Amino acid sequence: MSRYQDQRGISYTAASQDAVNKFDATINEYVHFSTETGERLKHTLASDPEFAMAHVLRGAFMQLFCVPALTEKARQSLAKAREVGAGAELDARERHHIEALDAWITGDLESALTHWESILLEHPLDMLAVKLSQFIHFYLGDSRRLRDSIARVLPAWQADIPGHANVLGMYAFGLEESGDYAAAERIGRRAVELDPGDAWAVHAVAHVMEMQDRRRDGIAWLRELEAHWDRVNNFRFHLWWHLALFHLELAEYDQVLALYDTAFRAEPTEEYLDICNATSILWRLEERGVNVAGRWKELAEISANRIDGHALIFPDMHFMMAVAAVGDTDSTEGMLRSLAQAAGEAGVTEAGVIEAVGLELARAIAAWYAGDYESVVDRLLPIRYSFQAIGGSHAQRDLFHQILIAAALRAPRPALARALLAERAHLKPDNAWTWKRYAEALDAAGDRAAAGEAAERARVALSA
Ligand SMILES: [Fe+2]
Repeated sequence: MSRYQDQRGISYTAASQDAVNKFDATINEYVHFSTETGERLKHTLASDPEFAMAHVLRGAFMQLFCVPALTEKARQSLAKAREVGAGAELDARERHHIEALDAWITGDLESALTHWESILLEHPLDMLAVKLSQFIHFYLGDSRRLRDSIARVLPAWQADIPGHANVLGMYAFGLEESGDYAAAERIGRRAVELDPGDAWAVHAVAHVMEMQDRRRDGIAWLRELEAHWDRVNNFRFHLWWHLALFHLELAEYDQVLALYDTAFRAEPTEEYLDICNATSILWRLEERGVNVAGRWKELAEISANRIDGHALIFPDMHFMMAVAAVGDTDSTEGMLRSLAQAAGEAGVTEAGVIEAVGLELARAIAAWYAGDYESVVDRLLPIRYSFQAIGGSHAQRDLFHQILIAAALRAPRPALARALLAERAHLKPDNAWTWKRYAEALDAAGDRAAAGEAAERARVALSA
């Protein structure tokens, strides 16, 4: 074993330059959410079966699926990385990667981040550490760390460094989640200009448009760029989900259902992000009075197999929604039991999230489908400022804020609904749904004149 460098000068203990080139190509595909990623990794391991970092990468890919059965495969990859690494002279960076994977597998996400961030202090061009830390920051719902961990490495990613555009895309997303929409859009657009195939950068700009209720801009942006997604994995479904969200906010429900059936839920895939897309749009549609027919059924069947594990709480809440939506009480109760058991386990980051937010949120979802809207309000009101801890984006977590508002209207708790919607109207002044529900709340609270004004704002927002 010797050391060979990737195209950014990061060195690896490997059998040959060919193996490192193939590893680098795998990372490049991963950064682009490419369907070729797995195949590239196979080529890497075929080129050098004793390549410790390739085994680490395989373990990371298994972890990214968040499926308990694949965690076992990640463990095998970790063991293999340790085994081949023991006979090789791995450097501190490679050892940090092994320890990060170990921490991730045990659920200690903070320790995993500490290892990746240690790497990045000395090796800011280590794309794997950059990308994996962004992934975990995202699922810890930590906007500032999402932004700042990229800001720290950005000076090293000069324009001539391969992957420069991808890192700009990651920075754009961190800026967007931190509320700096102007900078996010500017940097995200630059990233897409340089690399139109970077779905994450496209996504960052789509999020800006979502947060600013620029629905027609969002539709145009995604339609213009979708030609580049032929080799994008299921992340393209998430982009089409965003497209559907823009149509939803224009009350174009037929288009939402068409996108559901032909684009982002055309196949009954089991990946968690696909389930999150589908369930969260179905809830929104039903709340707006749209008949979604039998679409919950296959989602519930898949989700019933995902009531244990809790690697990430964000998807768990969506699995919960699917089983509750079809009245599968065995699975609903099973999920609540499983979450209660997992809550608070020492050394497991998400166990703390379950304890603080996840369990109550899951109970609220169950209460929603039981028609107990008082209970939904009672459970969500105390934790609504902590929703962020379950991870995901503001646009995704908005689902839970909408559930609270809709439950307050249905309970009915008109004064609370009015207050929540007054708050939301300031945050989303061009959001038609917000004004429509605000009009209902004002009407229920007896303020007819203000209700009329809010209804007019809804009409204007919809036609803008
Ligand atoms: Fe998104």
